[in-house]
Amino acid sequence: MNKKINWGIIGLGNIANKFAEDLMLSSDSILYGVASREINKAKKFSSKFNSIKYYDSYEELAKVSEIDIIYVATPHVFHFENVMMCLRNNKAVLCEKPMGLNSQEVNIMIEEAKSRKLFLMEALWTRFIPGTEKLIEILKKKLIGDILLIRADFGYKGDLNLNSRVYDKKLGGGSLLDVGIYPIYLSLLSLGLPTDIKVIASMTETNVDSNCSMLFNYKSGAKANLESSIERETPTEAYIYGSEGVLKIHSRFHHTEKITISRNGKNEILDINYRGNGYIYEIEEVTKCLINEEVESSKLPFTTSLDLIYLIDKVKEEIGLKYDSKNNI
Ligand SMILES: NC(=O)c1ccc[n+]([C@@H]2O[C@H](COP(=O)([O-])OP(=O)(O)OC[C@H]3O[C@@H](n4cnc5c(N)ncnc54)[C@H](OP(=O)(O)O)[C@@H]3O)[C@@H](O)[C@H]2O)c1
Repeated sequence: MNKKINWGIIGLGNIANKFAEDLMLSSDSILYGVASREINKAKKFSSKFNSIKYYDSYEELAKVSEIDIIYVATPHVFHFENVMMCLRNNKAVLCEKPMGLNSQEVNIMIEEAKSRKLFLMEALWTRFIPGTEKLIEILKKKLIGDILLIRADFGYKGDLNLNSRVYDKKLGGGSLLDVGIYPIYLSLLSLGLPTDIKVIASMTETNVDSNCSMLFNYKSGAKANLESSIERETPTEAYIYGSEGVLKIHSRFHHTEKITISRNGKNEILDINYRGNGYIYEIEEVTKCLINEEVESSKLPFTTSLDLIYLIDKVKEEIGLKYDSKNNI
């Protein structure tokens, strides 16, 4: 018997719309319910994406027994309270990145999920993009030898709206949490944890980082040179320099559709297209895990989310960036 997974979505903003489009591509998924703080917004979203139910309360949705998993698509500062609320209502959760504001929040959420034997995963869609799967294969085969250096950037020039999610400190603003997480994740995926971290950042008048320049040093001697910005367009590509060649992960590298392998004076270009908006692959991973009754994804295990937030915490510490966790942690 083929079980279908009933999804709920809370926080019906920008990313929830893109995600819901891809949910429609998944033959194993049904959008059962959506919840917004505003009923009209929920109703509109529900009719756009054919959800069976809609609510003006996140908690009301979390109490619906038919729902198997809730996708949390609220701003970062609310992830902890939203995820904990869903888990306490015995729901599996896919939570947008970053999973929490700091290691303590992420750790508590993971422990709660484990103790309840509920599935939990950070919505780090990059991990499941076919281009990333290809990258992992190339690195495993050591096609460019040992990694010596990674260079990756993610920068865009956003609207200078000081009350927006990316500028407002109370909403977890700043380039690091918004986009810096992607170059950091690439470094983690390729090289693991560094031994030293140096960072120089510039700050907005709202006291969040507008640009972050990070240099990671590894035991092997390898380096990662990573950039994030909410104030300037940058190529948003990545290069991995190895002892026997170079990889270019074309823009935007975190959901790339093209990788160039340069070795022995030759370039090999790989075109690796993806379906939909690219979120279908994380959706398929989650549905597969739920159908198989797994509580964590082997491709994006809890340890990865813990390592990622550990690195983010270290970067924040280096630049003196501290968010008020609403949860006294
Ligand atoms: N994976 C990706 O590619 C990707 C891309 C962009 C963003 N993200 C992540 O997704 C999360 C949401 O980002 P977004 O760009 O979708 O943000 P957004 O457009 O501002 O939407 C966030 C939604 O959260 C809800 N919300 C609850 N309390 C809120 C508050 N006090 N202020 C504002 N919104 C509140 C709102 O939904 P209701 O009004 O319906 O309650 C709002 O529409 C962030 O954590 C971000 O890092 C991921």
